[in-house]
Amino acid sequence: MLEQRFQGFTRGMKWRCLALLLAMAGLGAVSAPVYAAAAEDGEKIIITGASGQLGRLVVEELLARQVPAADLILVSRSPDELENYAEMGASVRFGDFTQPASLPAAFAGGRRMLLISISGMGLDRPAMHKNAIDAAKQAGVVQIAYTSYVNADRNTQSLLAQDHRRTEMILEQSGVAWTFLRNQIYMNGQLAAAREAAGSGTLTTWQPDLKVAYVTREDCAAAAAAVLATPGHDNTAYNITGPQAVGAVELGRAVALLSGRPVAVEAMTQEVYIQHQIDAGVPERAARGGVGLGQELDSLWLAQPDSAVGRLTGRPATGLYEFLATQRAAWETAQ
Ligand SMILES: NC(=O)c1ccc[n+]([C@@H]2O[C@H](COP(=O)([O-])OP(=O)(O)OC[C@H]3O[C@@H](n4cnc5c(N)ncnc54)[C@H](OP(=O)(O)O)[C@@H]3O)[C@@H](O)[C@H]2O)c1
Repeated sequence: MLEQRFQGFTRGMKWRCLALLLAMAGLGAVSAPVYAAAAEDGEKIIITGASGQLGRLVVEELLARQVPAADLILVSRSPDELENYAEMGASVRFGDFTQPASLPAAFAGGRRMLLISISGMGLDRPAMHKNAIDAAKQAGVVQIAYTSYVNADRNTQSLLAQDHRRTEMILEQSGVAWTFLRNQIYMNGQLAAAREAAGSGTLTTWQPDLKVAYVTREDCAAAAAAVLATPGHDNTAYNITGPQAVGAVELGRAVALLSGRPVAVEAMTQEVYIQHQIDAGVPERAARGGVGLGQELDSLWLAQPDSAVGRLTGRPATGLYEFLATQRAAWETAQ
């Protein structure tokens, strides 16, 4: 339907130009035909992982773009959690990439697809994504947008990038038109540190100089909705990032400005930081995992902002201060 709308728009433009030329030539008015934008089978948008945090935001963004709920196929391992969208007319279906037999029925009738990278420790994620890509191709899907990782093609040192690059290669070789949404690390992950800073007046870190162009999950969803609902994104990769690289200093400053209370940034060694986290109630495994992620983030490939969010959505990517201002309930503490 979206392609039809676009074609209808360009055909309408041709008629309007013709009418203008004829009017200028004094040959009278010609009225442009009206093209219906009715949904047709085979023109529907599939969202996988639709009950996840990103999946739900993408559904909301598509609805806000006036995509009818009836044009959406929402695939999840927990379709019951999407009952509200079923009531609006969306087709809500069970699908699990670890159960390939579930996928033909899940994807039947879909035209475009957002393949949300799966979570899950110990899974061969690219192999699971391949199950989804193969089934989508078999079902007649012509475009797959995949939520990848920022600079996945160039960040060869990154462990996180490896699964995404392997999936990108599988998708490139599938013959289906691809769009890579190379999402930066979510800014939403900074809320815990903001809460600590607001509560104690101190922001502890073992990486005082680290800067990352974090992006909000909400902006990732808006960018994904744009590539699904507008033409021109076939075989294109986008780095989906925030507007600038920020770190502990910027986070502390934003919390201080918004809360009206001073925040000091306290740098410590890695081991002291881990112990500090454990003393604050974080399980040791999680504390060490957080440090591991910090090492992953210490890369120039994560510090570079990109303008793709603005180009795709028509509004600038959300900055750290603005994000914290809209998420006060998640980090402000009673004094
Ligand atoms: N950029 C970042 O900072 C960042 C951080 C964390 C994760 N990620 C990646 O981005 C993805 C989306 O993020 P999120 O915030 O929405 O994460 P989330 O809320 O944890 O959602 C996880 C998603 O994975 C899907 N999934 C898990 N196992 C699956 C399976 N076997 N078959 C099909 N789908 C499966 C879930 O779908 P259902 O439950 O609906 O089946 C859900 O949509 C994550 O899965 C992860 O790959 C990125």
